Amino acid sequence: MDKFVIHGGGKLRGTIMVGGSKNGTLPLMAAALLTKGVTSISGSPHLQDVATMSNVLRVSGARVYGKRHELKIDTATCNHFEAPYDLVKTMRASFYVLGPLVARYGRARVSLPGGCAWGPRPVDLHLKGLEALGAQIKNDHGYIEARAKYLVGATFEFDKVSVGATAQLVMAATLARGVSRLVNTAKEPEILMLVQMLRKMGAQIQELPDGLKITGVRKLKPVHITVMPDRIEAGTYIAAATLAGGSLRIENCPIDHLSAAMDVFSRAGAVMKKAGPRVLVVQGPKVIKPMEISTAPFPGFPTDLQAQLMAVLSMARGTSIITDTVYHDRFTHVAELKRLGADISVSGNSAIIQGVASLTGAEVMATDLRASAALVIAGLRARGTTKLDRVYHIDRGYEHIEEKFNAVGARIERIKEAM
Ligand code: UD1
Repeated sequence: MDKFVIHGGGKLRGTIMVGGSKNGTLPLMAAALLTKGVTSISGSPHLQDVATMSNVLRVSGARVYGKRHELKIDTATCNHFEAPYDLVKTMRASFYVLGPLVARYGRARVSLPGGCAWGPRPVDLHLKGLEALGAQIKNDHGYIEARAKYLVGATFEFDKVSVGATAQLVMAATLARGVSRLVNTAKEPEILMLVQMLRKMGAQIQELPDGLKITGVRKLKPVHITVMPDRIEAGTYIAAATLAGGSLRIENCPIDHLSAAMDVFSRAGAVMKKAGPRVLVVQGPKVIKPMEISTAPFPGFPTDLQAQLMAVLSMARGTSIITDTVYHDRFTHVAELKRLGADISVSGNSAIIQGVASLTGAEVMATDLRASAALVIAGLRARGTTKLDRVYHIDRGYEHIEEKFNAVGARIERIKEAM
């Protein structure tokens, strides 16, 4: 398992480039299963999660190939409608294939994803929604078996906003017979990109004030799509500049998807200037200001930037409170930030952060993807050396983050260790 050794204390200066969206790419890959032929996806990030989804698709018989940042998925040979535990347990988004498989082939057997580092993460909305579309769902020893001669359009209201369940049901409904109305859907940019791809494939999807109306079609065609930049990666760089100081020019930055994040880091004291349609210049503040803030579904402040914001506020002048309304237990980074000297306590789904004057390097452990991003940026600011173990978590969602940070003045070494 690789480790990072982060020599902290320096400011960041220079240009950093945002890659393609990880969370955007995964549902597009699953959507390829809705059609027969070669789907091509440009700008896909070269990440472990994308490799895992490629393997999930390969199990179904699809051919996944192509160059770095250029995926091709050929579904002409799909003949096995299963996603095994070994793959699904490492990446929850593998569950996305359930809806497309049952919609196109009438059956699917997909392992339940189980919990994750920050508590149970149910899939009840995915299953209830598919049942509403007429699928028969059975839980057989941890595998969900779904069957339907064909899916039938229906109205389904999400009692909670869910990105994954929205993606699952939009995909499934495109091939259902009749009209579906999905109410209280997620509005994340990744969902809008999926809708854009499905429309290009021939799906009939209409946006409603409170959701989506989908008129099922018999067949979809394979298409080419380009992935948008990763808003969470960009937000991580904004957080890094805010905490470590200096000035970062963030290129390929999806500014339109970052309003809430830009607002929050500006409140913390960062100065941001748009220098082009996808260029944001961020200058770190002398003094970080505390705040009270809650995460929320888009367009709110994303839970995927909560840990990075907490690293920043750990050095604010005063007390901050961060409440995570999306994932109530998403605080595994708290114990690790405390090893660096942060003063944080957790009460229910809120973290109370008393700003400290300095952070000091220590040995810490990455517990999940965004928690590890928070520890990297805290390590950039901390005095001395931070050793971060289990960086495979960060490799799931950031392409060579150490090289990108080193190019703007950071000093991060990757220590390769044999398994
Ligand atoms: C996606 C993102 C993840 C992000 C999250 C919230 C991907 C691959 N992952 O995850 O990075 O943190 O959105 O923005 O895009 N829930 C249920 N029942 C369900 C499904 C969800 O109760 O069937 C709950 C979850 O426990 C959570 C909330 O709904 O409290 C939102 O989860 P959801 O939006 O579904 O997250 P994911 O799609 O898994």
